[in-house]
Amino acid sequence: MNSDLLTKIEETILGLPKGLQEHISRTRNVACDIASFYSIDISKCDTAAAAHDIVRHLTPNELLDCAKKYLVEINELYRRQPILLHGPVAAKIIEVDYFCKDYDIISAVKYHTTGRPNMGDIEKVVFIADKIEPRKIKKNPSLKPVEELIFKDINLAIKEYLSVRFKILLDSNALIDPVAVDTWNNFMGNKSFN
Ligand SMILES: [Fe+2]
Repeated sequence: MNSDLLTKIEETILGLPKGLQEHISRTRNVACDIASFYSIDISKCDTAAAAHDIVRHLTPNELLDCAKKYLVEINELYRRQPILLHGPVAAKIIEVDYFCKDYDIISAVKYHTTGRPNMGDIEKVVFIADKIEPRKIKKNPSLKPVEELIFKDINLAIKEYLSVRFKILLDSNALIDPVAVDTWNNFMGNKSFN
C-alpha cells in the first residue's frame, strides 16, 4: 500500500520547483540514513519525507485556500503566517486525496515544522532530517552541533535544534508557534536532559 502512496507522492514531486525537489530528495536521503541507524521503519520515513513539502511552494493565499478546502483549522498564528500551514495541508492531501491510512506518516508530515509533544519515531526522523539536510547545514553553520548529535542521540539532536532555532527566532523578533514551545517543554521534561 505504501508503494502506491509513494508513487502518487513522487508524481506530485515531479511538478514542484526544482530547488524544492532537490531539498525533498536530500531530506529523504538523510531520513533513510537516520532510520537505518536507529532501526526505524525506513519505508515510512522515506514516504513521509517525500511528502513533507509537497505544498511548500504555494503562496500564502494559496495555502489559506487549501487549508479551507481541506478543513485544516486556521488559527490566528496561521492567518498571520500561512507558511506554517504547509505541513498540516500536505498531511490532509496525502490522507484525503492519496488515501494514506498510515497515521505515523500523516502525523510526521503534519508536524514536521514544529514537532509536537511525545513525538513518535517516524515523526522524529522526518522532523530532524528536514532541518539538517546538507544544504541547510551549509546555509546555517550554527546547526553543525545538531548534525554531530544525530547519530549519537536523536532526542538530544532535536533538543539542540529547537534551542538553536528559538534563539534565531527571538533574535529576529519572529513569531514562535506554541506547538514548537510545547515540543521543547516536552523534551525538557525528559529526565535525561536534566
Ligand atoms: Fe522541508
